[in-house]
Amino acid sequence: MKVNNRYTWETKNIRRAMFDKILIVPGITSNHPKHKEDDKDQLWLERSELHTQSILTDIPYEKDWKVLDVGCGIGRMMATFSDKFKQVDGVDFSESMIEFSKKYLKDYQNCNTYLNNGYDLSELKDNSYDFVYSIITFQHISKDAIDSYIKEIQRVLKDSKYISLQFMKPSTNKLRKGAGPAWSHFIGHDFKTHSDLLELFKDFDVNYQIDNNNQWVWIKGIKNELR
Ligand SMILES: C[S@@+](CC[C@H](N)C(=O)[O-])C[C@H]1O[C@@H](n2cnc3c(N)ncnc32)[C@H](O)[C@@H]1O
Repeated sequence: MKVNNRYTWETKNIRRAMFDKILIVPGITSNHPKHKEDDKDQLWLERSELHTQSILTDIPYEKDWKVLDVGCGIGRMMATFSDKFKQVDGVDFSESMIEFSKKYLKDYQNCNTYLNNGYDLSELKDNSYDFVYSIITFQHISKDAIDSYIKEIQRVLKDSKYISLQFMKPSTNKLRKGAGPAWSHFIGHDFKTHSDLLELFKDFDVNYQIDNNNQWVWIKGIKNELR
């Protein structure tokens, strides 16, 4: 199993995790002293609000759902979803992200995070979630690990329940390789066509939406009942 490099995501400082790893916006979030901490916090809140809408559009969500965030980071989206759902769980393969998540989510009693191995959800039970979402994560993951995650998401999701998973628009991830060697460790599999990406979802009934930013796509839909 080829898994991407976990050490790329490790850092000792939560602010670096937030603004050098999770949300990277040129001109606002680099470590240069001219970038104001208040501006970064404002961006964090604005993006989280925007991303809440992107994840939930067309999902008929209910308060009593148990939901899972794949590649949860420090729990940014889990915190915003805490009052929308009964239980919000997250997995991530970075030790520092999971450590920071315990602090970031300490006042959110219904949120739990787990360290995983980068390709499966073996900590989690079959047929136990109503909704699985993922954002700014699959574009960083190798094809082997993506294949494994989609099978695992199918396993942990209840029948006829929902997914909302974000990928890079096919054939655009490779463009970011032009950004240089430091960035190349972050680049995951580049699907060549929309059909290559949709091929992963044979056990689901999904549709395909292009995000307003025109760089991302969303796979939204339900797990088919086993026949
Ligand atoms: C850009 S951050 C996004 C975090 C979070 N989804 C958010 O939007 O705030 C990507 C996250 O994916 C995690 N990640 C990358 N590859 C992974 C893998 N193979 N398995 C689990 N987590 C992974 C990283 O550790 C990092 O926390």
